[in-house]
Amino acid sequence: MRILVVGGGGREHALVWKLAQSPRVKKIYCAPGNPGIGQIAECVDISADNIKALCGFAREHSVDLTVVGPEKPLTDGIVDYFTAQGLRIFGPTQEAAQLEGSKTFAKERMKEYGVPTAEFAVFSSAAEARAYVESKGTGIVVKADGLAAGKGVVVAETKAEALAAIDEIMLKKVHGDAGNQVVLEERLVGEEASLLAFTDGVTVVPMVAAQDHKRVGDGDVGPNTGGMGAYAPAPVVTPQLLRQIQDTILQPMIDGLRQDGILYQGVLYAGLMITADGPKVIEFNARFGDPETQVVLPLLDADLVKIMEACIDGTLAGQTVKWRDKAAVCVVVAAGGYPGEYRKGDIITGLGEAEARDTVVFHAGTGLAGDTIVTHGGRVLGVTAMAENIAAAVDKVYPAVGQIRFAGMQYRKDIAHRALKR
Ligand code: AMP
Ligand code: GLY
Repeated sequence: MRILVVGGGGREHALVWKLAQSPRVKKIYCAPGNPGIGQIAECVDISADNIKALCGFAREHSVDLTVVGPEKPLTDGIVDYFTAQGLRIFGPTQEAAQLEGSKTFAKERMKEYGVPTAEFAVFSSAAEARAYVESKGTGIVVKADGLAAGKGVVVAETKAEALAAIDEIMLKKVHGDAGNQVVLEERLVGEEASLLAFTDGVTVVPMVAAQDHKRVGDGDVGPNTGGMGAYAPAPVVTPQLLRQIQDTILQPMIDGLRQDGILYQGVLYAGLMITADGPKVIEFNARFGDPETQVVLPLLDADLVKIMEACIDGTLAGQTVKWRDKAAVCVVVAAGGYPGEYRKGDIITGLGEAEARDTVVFHAGTGLAGDTIVTHGGRVLGVTAMAENIAAAVDKVYPAVGQIRFAGMQYRKDIAHRALKR
């Protein structure tokens, strides 16, 4: 089989790495890919957003299956476009991907299907949103409705902060049209977890639960990032909770959408808060998580190509999806200054030495200067170790990270701290 993976970050490197293990795969292309991905796949110089060009490439190169990493092409309708041209592609349609693309859509569906989530109200007028904050007081989360690269959410500590966030999003339009509407939410308290699931629109097969580390600093301080590390399985999601999440969240969403005429196929990612009243949805994503994928896929003890095909063909119920009885930890190595302004072009050394310590180094934001691998993004690398348990994986991953050097590099020293405290 010939496979095209769309995207070029750490998640896509993990996807390519796992897909390459399938005995059925002869060739993998990745658009645009990165230098790490280029070691196992052929990188193609097409942006992940250029649906037309990607489709043309897939036809010309007889690609049998396309796998989409990022949300943008999904919400832009890449799956509809490919399918209309008779090409097989893994991911939800544009309509289904609204679950990630529009917070209003997601919240309204959850309400309709009785899926537990934070209380919310939607506003198209800043004055009305402000009035709601005045009446509710504190404990409010302000979210831009549309896609804002993970930056459209303000967990307001005070009323003033909530009001300021409304002004920024709706009046100053700091996220552009994503701020035409805001969702105001009750603030949930608890521990967060990510549960991703494969689905063919009928059957839902959860993956192992993971936990991401969104803040830049140790102890979960500082600004939000795309994710500074992850581990799986997350012990906060006990086997009983996993069942509960499947029965009260994942399956009702998929069933509800199908009954409303939307067949959701691909990965459904539930961002959850494990509250005192049980698990509640913070958000849905229509794709694999980054960096969750870098810890979840190494634990998958099955052929990913087969699972993806079953999702497309509606035969997931007949698939065995096994997981290794191990744990994985991923530490993201970021450029100095990230998530603010950061440098690019610094030489990276020690990649081979890190991998020699039984880890996989997934490239996220790397580039080439001649033959030399240099930094090229905010999140530069994700180093993943697998071991008998989380503690052993942590002990394995950090000495490997210690081999890596580039000017200004930063990483969190406390990945998996919540699991270790248990
Ligand atoms: P989102 O982009 O919706 O995942 O939100 C980003 C982050 O904001 C989440 O990972 C949470 O840490 C936080 N967050 C979002 N919504 C809520 C909520 N209702 N209560 C508490 N924290 C939230
Ligand atoms: N790790 C968070 C996300 O992929 O959205």
